[in-house]
Amino acid sequence: MTRSAPASPRPGSSGRLSVTRVALLDRNSEAGQESKAALDEQFEAQRTLFIQCDVTEPEQLKGAFKKVIEHFGRLDIVVNNAGVNNEKDWESTIQVNLTSVIRGTYLGIEYMKKGNGGDGGVIINISSLAGLMPAAFQPVYCATKHGVIGFTRSIALAANMENYGVRLNTICPGFVNTPILQSIDKEENMGQYYSYKDEIKNMMQFYGVMDPSIIAEGLITIIEDDTLNGEVMKITASQGIHFHQYGQTPFTSSKR
Ligand SMILES: NC(=O)c1ccc[n+]([C@@H]2O[C@H](COP(=O)([O-])OP(=O)(O)OC[C@H]3O[C@@H](n4cnc5c(N)ncnc54)[C@H](O)[C@@H]3O)[C@@H](O)[C@H]2O)c1
Repeated sequence: MTRSAPASPRPGSSGRLSVTRVALLDRNSEAGQESKAALDEQFEAQRTLFIQCDVTEPEQLKGAFKKVIEHFGRLDIVVNNAGVNNEKDWESTIQVNLTSVIRGTYLGIEYMKKGNGGDGGVIINISSLAGLMPAAFQPVYCATKHGVIGFTRSIALAANMENYGVRLNTICPGFVNTPILQSIDKEENMGQYYSYKDEIKNMMQFYGVMDPSIIAEGLITIIEDDTLNGEVMKITASQGIHFHQYGQTPFTSSKR
C-alpha cells in the first residue's frame, strides 16, 4: 500500500489514514479480481493492482514486490496476511503462515527502510489468538502463529536499533467470519483432528465470530499510530481491540 501525506496529524499519529494505492496479492486469481472489482466501484481503477502470487514461491513474491514498486513508484505499508489452516499438509502450513511472512517482512524492510532509498513504513503481520495460547486440534497452525509473533516482536526491536524507520506489529484476531473457517469441516485440512471439528465449532459459539470489518479497524489503528512498534494487538468479540501486555524486554536500547 502507499499513502498520501497526512493533512492534520494528531499526537502519536500520522493523521487519518489516506491510502492512495493498494496492491493485492493472492494465489486465488478469482478472489483477487473480485476484491479489485469491489475497490474499483469506490475508487479509480488505477489505484488498485491485483497480482496473482503464491507467497510460498520466493521468486513470485520478490517479483510481486518489484511490480508494485514499478507500478506505484513507492511502498509504505505491507500486510502479511495470507494464511491456511491445514494440519494434514502441515509442512505447507508452515510455508504459508510463517516462512512467507518472514520473507514478506524482509522484502518490505528492504524496500522501505531508510538508508536503502526508502522513506520508512509499516509492516503488519497477521497472527491469531492461537499465537498466544495452545489450540487443541490445530497444533501446527498454532506453532506458526506463535512463530509470527516471536519473529515480528524480534525484528521490530532490530528495526528500532538500526533506525530503519519501519514499524512492525502483529494482529491476533479471535474467530472471524471468513472462508478459512470452512477448513474445519474438511478432512483434507484437519487430518487426524477431523473428528474434533464439533469441539472447535463449540469454541466458536462460546467465543463468538467477528465481522472482518473490526480487523480492518485494528489495522488502521496500527497504520495511523506512529508510536506502535513491536506490539501485539488482540481483537476479540468480548473485548474488541486491545493489546497483549508483556514484561519489559531486555537489550532494547538504541545503539545510535
Ligand atoms: N478467520 C479467522 O477466524 C482468523 C482468526 C485468526 C487469524 N486469522 C488469520 O487471518 C489471515 C487471513 O485469513 P482469513 O480469515 O481472511 O482467511 P481466508 O481463507 O479468507 O483468506 C486467506 C487468503 O490467503 C490466501 N492464500 C493462502 N495461501 C496462499 C499462498 N500460498 N499464496 C498466496 N495467497 C494465499 C487465500 O487464497 C485467501 O485469499 C490468515 O493469516 C489467518 O490465519 C484468521
